[in-house]
Amino acid sequence: MHQAIVRTMSSLDGQVAFVTGAGSGLGASFARRLAADGAHVVVNDRDEAAAGKTATAIGGEVAAFDVTDSVAMDAAVDRVAMHHGRLDIMINNAGIAPPHNEARTAINIDNQMKRMVGDIDNLTVTNDTVELSDDEFDRMIKVHLYGTFYGTRAALRHMTPARRGTVVNVSSVLAVRPMPGALHYAAAKAGIIALTKSVGQEVAAFGVRVNVVCPGWIDTPLLAPLAPEIRAGIVMQVPAGRLGRPEELAELVRFLAGPESSYCNGDVFTASGGFV
Ligand SMILES: NC(=O)c1ccc[n+]([C@@H]2O[C@H](COP(=O)([O-])OP(=O)(O)OC[C@H]3O[C@@H](n4cnc5c(N)ncnc54)[C@H](O)[C@@H]3O)[C@@H](O)[C@H]2O)c1
Repeated sequence: MHQAIVRTMSSLDGQVAFVTGAGSGLGASFARRLAADGAHVVVNDRDEAAAGKTATAIGGEVAAFDVTDSVAMDAAVDRVAMHHGRLDIMINNAGIAPPHNEARTAINIDNQMKRMVGDIDNLTVTNDTVELSDDEFDRMIKVHLYGTFYGTRAALRHMTPARRGTVVNVSSVLAVRPMPGALHYAAAKAGIIALTKSVGQEVAAFGVRVNVVCPGWIDTPLLAPLAPEIRAGIVMQVPAGRLGRPEELAELVRFLAGPESSYCNGDVFTASGGFV
């Protein structure tokens, strides 16, 4: 009789992980997944109460600050590495979505209907790019691209000398398949891919690995502001026929955080239900 071969992921006992934006959605799921395998998780969020909730649930600790503050990032990561004597895993996940605009949604749906019947001459101009302010563009790049840079840099200061550590950066499928109206989000997320590839090549020979995940459409509070019609339209474009669950992405992040992904460095991983 054949015995079933059951392989489980290695233990993360004794390892220290730092997850940004872990008060909600994907980040909270990543924190839970790493803790489930034994890691001590430092839960960052700009929302201290949300970070506290995640940390309490997994026996982790809170580091509440805005990832666009490089001084706060350096101080928090240094404090964790000093206190625990190590930093093994850094997940740069904190992010924001472009604010929902009802009027624009109505125009987009109306345009979509007109396209379906070939009424191209009567489409309404949307002006997404023209109306995007300096501040909106700035904030999007700051949170995603600067936040990821600050987190990666702060972590490498401890990982490279130790010749040990993994960094997972969170991009998006919209980096590789952008959509109209979110050019700043797409640009920031595409920047994260380039940053990750470059840093991965830099540190590959020194025991540190840096990879990037591109989630598809995942059911988190980030998507809550979407109108039901837009949500339905998105699901229609996903071959899997549904949104992803945070826990499904957490398995990928857990793989990249641990030794199972030992040959992955500067690599890009999409999980999109076939959307890309
Ligand atoms: N949900 C999706 O469909 C999807 C798809 C692709 C990529 N992503 C990316 O995944 C990441 C997590 O998104 P989510 O869906 O879990 O969203 P979410 O809104 O549920 O969680 C994001 C968390 O990040 C925190 N945050 C935001 N800005 C911050 C800052 N400047 N400093 C510290 N914390 C901050 C928020 O307070 C929140 O708790 C984001 O980078 C997002 O762009 C999400």
